[in-house]
Order: sequence, then C-alpha cells, then structure tokens
Amino acid sequence: MSSPTSIHQSPRHQQPPTRSWASTSVSDFQAVLKSSKRVLALCGAGLSASSGLETFRGAGGMWRDYEASALATPEAFEKDPGLVWLFYAYRRHKALNAKPNMGHYALAELARAKGEEGFMCLSQNIDGLSQRANHPPAQLKLLHSSLFDIKCFSCPYIEKDNFSDPVHPSLLIDEASITARLSAASTPISLSSASASKPPTIPLDELPHCPACKTGLLRPGVVWFGESLPKQTLAEVNQWIGRGLIDLCLMIGTTAQVYPAAGYVQVARMEGARIAVVNMDSRELGAAGGLRSVDFLFEGDAARVLPDILGGVVGELEGFVGEVAMVNGARTGEGEGVEEEEEMDEVQKYFAASP
Ligand code: APR
Repeated sequence: MSSPTSIHQSPRHQQPPTRSWASTSVSDFQAVLKSSKRVLALCGAGLSASSGLETFRGAGGMWRDYEASALATPEAFEKDPGLVWLFYAYRRHKALNAKPNMGHYALAELARAKGEEGFMCLSQNIDGLSQRANHPPAQLKLLHSSLFDIKCFSCPYIEKDNFSDPVHPSLLIDEASITARLSAASTPISLSSASASKPPTIPLDELPHCPACKTGLLRPGVVWFGESLPKQTLAEVNQWIGRGLIDLCLMIGTTAQVYPAAGYVQVARMEGARIAVVNMDSRELGAAGGLRSVDFLFEGDAARVLPDILGGVVGELEGFVGEVAMVNGARTGEGEGVEEEEEMDEVQKYFAASP
C-alpha cells in the first residue's frame, strides 16, 4: 500500500501547444531572481540530458523503450533481480562516464550566491552530476537518492558512494547489447510471464549479496515507484520550506509528473511563488499547470539556458563557465583516452572525499 510519501506518477498532463501567458524576458527574470529572498528549484532528468544521460519521458525518454514497472519497483526486483540490476548497472556506467554540464555548474553557483536560506535545490536525479559540479551539499536534496548507494533487500545494511564499475563482476556492461536486452526483457508481456516460465536474467547466486546478513540480495539504493522518499531528506526539505515563503520556484528539465517531488512546485505556487520553467518542450509543464503572466518560460536546453538566465545574477559565472567550456573543448583530439582516464580518477577522488 503506498503512502503519500511514496513515489507515484500522476496521469499525463501534456498540454497542447496553446498560447502561454508566461514571460520569456531574461532581464525581467533576472530582476525577479535578484529580489527573491527564497528560491526553490525542482530539477529532473532534462538537466542531465546534454551530459548524455537519457530522460524518462518525452522524446528519447527511456520509459518509451522499457516498462517502468518492470524495472523500477520492488516487485520487479523480486521477480527478476538480475534484469533490474542490469538496468541500474548500465545507468551507473553511463553516469560515471558523463560529465556535469553548464546547467549543473550554474545552479551550484546560484546556490553559493544565494546562501543556504536563499536557495534550495530538490533533485530527482540520481546521477551524481550536481555533486560533481560542486553543488553545496546542504542546498541539494536528493529526493530519489543516488545510483551510487547500495543496500540490502532484506536487512538495514546500506553502503553509500560505491563507485565501482562494474558494481559486481556479474554486472559487467556491454553497451552494444545492453539496451536491446533490457528492452526485450522488460516489456509488459515478458514481465507477466517472467516469474512463471522464464529463467532469471542472471542466476541468483551470481548476484551481489549483503556482507552483513550474508543471505539478502544487494539492490540499488534508489527510491523505486511505490517506495517512500528518504525520511531525513523529507524532514530537511520541509524544515527549509517551513522557514519562510518561497518567492520563486524554478522547474528545470522535469515533466513534474512524479509525486511527491512535483508537489513541491504546487506548494511553492500556493505560497505565492512565481514559477520559472526551463524545458526543451514548453508543453511539459506537469505540476506547474498553466503558467500565468507573472511566471516565466524558457524553452531550450537547460545546459545553455541556465547559464544565460542565471549569468547576470551569479557574479563570477561567466568566467567560471568559460573555464568549463575550455576544459570540455580540450577533451577532443589526441590523447583523449588519457584525459578520460584522468577525468575518471577525478570522479573517484571527488566522491572519495565527499562526506
Ligand atoms: N534541457 C531541458 N529540458 C529537457 C532537456 C534539456 N536538454 N531534454 C529533455 N528535457 C525535458 C523533457 O522535455 C521533459 O519534460 O526534461 C523533462 C524530463 O522529464 P522526465 O523524463 O519525466 O524526467 P523527470 O521529470 O526527472 O522524471 C521524474 O520519474 O521515472 C521517474 O524516478 C524517475 O526521477 C525520475 C522521475
């Protein structure tokens, strides 16, 4: 039985392309951002799209190819833990090889500029890219936890920040065949027949087991559909929200269809906050509903739009983003393999040093 704090998806809200009353003026937005004392952001998969990570819904979204209920629920794990592990091992592999983009860096700078009381970022993303962009940890709440947490399916054991790739020898990712394999194995038809006739994708004794209780299977530590958001995270978010009215709510790269996360946009709006949507697709307004003339809509890639709209407010962003662009530019050409290895070392070091 799901509780109000457990993840669930609302019916689809995609709106037909109608005239939007929202402003698209960057200078008006910057004036509002400057004068806003408390800003809340809700981020989703679109923030990491230009880092090369797939979104869930919309064009190219992975839930178009895979069946969510076959991969992101405790029931799916019970039926075929090997299949679910392959899906998450694949996403770990992709996330570890991706780099934060300028959208992540811009938000991290905004957090520093506004301070802890002035800005809070709620992320539905589990990819670790905001952390790697040095987003201040106290101003980043991971509503759906992290791809890099691993816990026991049977006992309270949890390991944080496990960045091994592969996470276990049985979960070595062969990128060429993994997507076809997941897609074939996770259709609703094969799910319903999985337990009855199909052999498990990977034999149980080959999957990672809990080092504490020795008998339970380890599972990805992310929050699945039907599961509750982390209690401590919810408490911290609610404390921040309870400390004062929210002036502005940024909704970045999310369809805002998955609750409870999307509910925070509605809370902010009921408190009188203006809404600013950053999305590739202006129909994807989810919980923001119809935008009003006091709201903002910036259609485009979050990695490009965020530095643009936050740049005038966040003091050193332009110079900082320039540096990031140079680092990205320097990746091409000879010696790329060596640089990528060095970058992976940096990823490991970053996470090893993080609390
Ligand atoms: N820049 C900005 N927005 C983008 C970009 C981009 N480069 N690319 C795609 N988008 C937008 C899409 O138009 C879509 O509205 O990002 C949004 C991604 O939405 P979803 O795929 O639904 O992702 P999200 O809202 O994060 O999903 C919420 O659902 O499956 C669960 O737990 C999972 O955390 C996830 C939750």
